[in-house]
Amino acid sequence: MLYLSEKAPAKINLTLDAKFKRTDGYHELEMVMTTIDLYDRIDLMFRSENKVSLMSDSGILPQAEKNLAYKAAMLLKQKMNIKYGVHIQIQKNIPVAAGLAGGSSDAAATLRGLNRLWDLRLTDQALAEIGAEIGSDVPFCVHADTALAKGRGEKLISLPAPPPCWVVLAKPTHGVSTAEIFDHLKVEQIASHPATDEMIYALQSYDYDKMCKYLGNVLEPVTMEIYPEVKRIKDKMKQFGADSVLMSGSGPTVFALVQYENQAKRLVNSLRGFCNHVYAVRMLGKRRDQVLD
Ligand code: C5P
Repeated sequence: MLYLSEKAPAKINLTLDAKFKRTDGYHELEMVMTTIDLYDRIDLMFRSENKVSLMSDSGILPQAEKNLAYKAAMLLKQKMNIKYGVHIQIQKNIPVAAGLAGGSSDAAATLRGLNRLWDLRLTDQALAEIGAEIGSDVPFCVHADTALAKGRGEKLISLPAPPPCWVVLAKPTHGVSTAEIFDHLKVEQIASHPATDEMIYALQSYDYDKMCKYLGNVLEPVTMEIYPEVKRIKDKMKQFGADSVLMSGSGPTVFALVQYENQAKRLVNSLRGFCNHVYAVRMLGKRRDQVLD
């Protein structure tokens, strides 16, 4: 095969809890994560030379060596002792540094795509293990479904997809550094931990109202304190009919859940002029037709 494409969908956190700070500097987490219908497109072109190159249509993406998709290709090449190369072209739709795992999902899609392009026949589990060396969210993004993530985020237990609904996303103008937000988190001072078990039960019982009720993220107050715009967007979304609202990951993107398309459109319209980056997409929950060729 000489050319192929992969979808790299964004993730949102339905819950994000931190248990303690580990001796390796990471936080021990418990998160319910799911996949939404907002994705980057990764095109992979076989190169007979032993080289990896990368281009993206986005001026703000880290180029080549610092890009997670590039790192993923280099790591896979090294682990599998591959002597040829690839050109990676990224069409960026997921906002950058937004709490939606855009970079991690590009890396995961690159691993899945190269597995086919280079005919490596690795399982998703093996790809996820390689992905964990690139970033904590990459293993989740390799599977790109709905899961309980523990450890650094790399220990995954598959969960049922959420009930169908719409996800309205609004991203403040600034991006956020995950490391900076975790740095400000004081685990022993967390006022309220999300009810992870209740969220899992909501998904198992396909209960939209309970899913809305149990959204929770311990990083939300931390990011809000530094970037008050997050709270303003949250309040606005509640005011304009969101069933539930939460910041995703370390932020700053805020998402609202609604059941019907007309509610989603109303929310998008109400945020125009207030926030530049607003999207209404469907909840996916399961990996679906990510292969584009
Ligand atoms: O793994 P990743 O490179 O995505 O993590 C970025 C940063 O986020 C880490 O360097 C760390 O500061 C923080 N982090 C953490 N606990 C986690 C995941 C990330 O403290 N479980």
